[in-house]
Amino acid sequence: MTDTAVLTNPLREGMRIRKTPAPCAMVIFGASGDLTARKLIPALYYLHCERLLPPGFSVIGCAKTPYSNEKFREAMADAVKKFSEKATVDEPSLTSFIQSLYYLTDDFGDVKAYTQLDELLNKLDSERGTNGNRLFYLATPPSSFPVIVSHLGAVGLAQPKEPGKSWTRVVIEKPFGHDLESARELTATVGSVFKEEQVYRIDHYLGKETVQNLLVFRFANGIFEPIWNRRYIDHVEITVAEELGVEGRGRYYEEAGLLRDMVQNHVMSVLSLVAMESPATFDAVEVRDEKAKVMRAIRPIDFDHLDDFVVRGQYADGWVKGQKVPGYCEEANVASNSSTETFAALKLSIDNWRWADVPFYLRSGKRLAKRVSEIVVQFRRVPHMVFGSKTENLVEPNVLAMRIQPNEGIAINFNAKFPAPTMEIRPVKMEFRYAESFGGEPPSAYETLLLDCMLGDQTLFTREDAVELAWQLLSPLLDRWREDGAKGLQYYESGSWGPAASDALLERDKRRWHRL
Ligand code: BG6
Repeated sequence: MTDTAVLTNPLREGMRIRKTPAPCAMVIFGASGDLTARKLIPALYYLHCERLLPPGFSVIGCAKTPYSNEKFREAMADAVKKFSEKATVDEPSLTSFIQSLYYLTDDFGDVKAYTQLDELLNKLDSERGTNGNRLFYLATPPSSFPVIVSHLGAVGLAQPKEPGKSWTRVVIEKPFGHDLESARELTATVGSVFKEEQVYRIDHYLGKETVQNLLVFRFANGIFEPIWNRRYIDHVEITVAEELGVEGRGRYYEEAGLLRDMVQNHVMSVLSLVAMESPATFDAVEVRDEKAKVMRAIRPIDFDHLDDFVVRGQYADGWVKGQKVPGYCEEANVASNSSTETFAALKLSIDNWRWADVPFYLRSGKRLAKRVSEIVVQFRRVPHMVFGSKTENLVEPNVLAMRIQPNEGIAINFNAKFPAPTMEIRPVKMEFRYAESFGGEPPSAYETLLLDCMLGDQTLFTREDAVELAWQLLSPLLDRWREDGAKGLQYYESGSWGPAASDALLERDKRRWHRL
């Protein structure tokens, strides 16, 4: 690459030396869709700017929309400008990047299109030196996954072009299945064509810097792990809150709902990283074995006392950032009597020695007061208050808050003596902020994960067993909600922190959600 101006990122300097993938071509199915424009292409553009893409790297976009290469390149250049989350878009770099994009008008259901795809891939191998290495990215609606996978298998594209010398991998977007049964069916279809080491089930939360830092925080420091257990921790809260509503995705959301869209994948992934045991090495098999072990230890939901463990909510109209916003049932493509949930809060228990009796409270929702994702670990109160009974209620338990986004960082609250002649105690905060400590903008989750796929590193991708275990836990709840319809659904005002029942979930245990 010979860009006249290259965007540099100090966080990536070390990486550039260590990691450069082998030349390869990436095929994106669903290339005219939202994900491609919003996330995939901007991420590839930034990898290009940081010179982390291999020489000759090429993208073939496939979708039904009839585009020429030129039209596709123009549309993707616009997408980079529109959706870039970083400050700078460098025109010469963008111009050189889009030259690596190609387009194939493709009806996913027609096997003939895959023969054409094979020809184009072979052409790129000889013209651009992509060496037979292929990354197939399924960015289509999930209903197209089985047919694409089967057709790739049928024309021989699922196998490495030259076994032992080249690789073929497939990236599958969430949701992986709609429930336990459909996830198992999809696993069987994918498994009949690809080997597990070729399959990358993407959960973009695992690519977020702060989510990865959770493992570094726990396992690269000597002082936290000894207290990371039931002896010292009172409870854990995980919040993934959004201000956004369904944003034109009413049709998808009516099918999915919050539990499938956020909890089954993102929230459960974060939970498993908070709770898992230390792997021996940061390696795909070991990390994923530990994640699966903790998922297996989660106690099934108690349906006889459901209200003590689960809250289901839906947003009504309200105000977000000074704007009046409609309720969920008034959104486009949403039934006016829909009982789809846009909020869920759960209390889970992990039945093992480390976590017995430590509740994990999870909540996620759309149209909440703030966009914030945070893990809060609240430690136990001191066993005895030496400063007199008057101070007892003023002394807050220690809290460790890990902010996944925005303003990524970690804060620890502890108590200090307020400067005064009398003994007064106040909580104070010790803080680490990514931006202040490291400078530069962290790579987006998709940059990290796309690079990992090209490098063949599956550590941050979800293995088949974790997907199944999450469905095993949540599918019965989805079945129950389907039977219940609107019964038990709690409405909350847009711009609030969710239904009152979510506060009550903790109040019953004499706790409250930590203020974010
Ligand atoms: C996606 C969900 O997986 O994650 C969206 O489908 C949600 O509904 C998004 O808005 C949130 O991701 P992030 O990275 O903005 O927190």
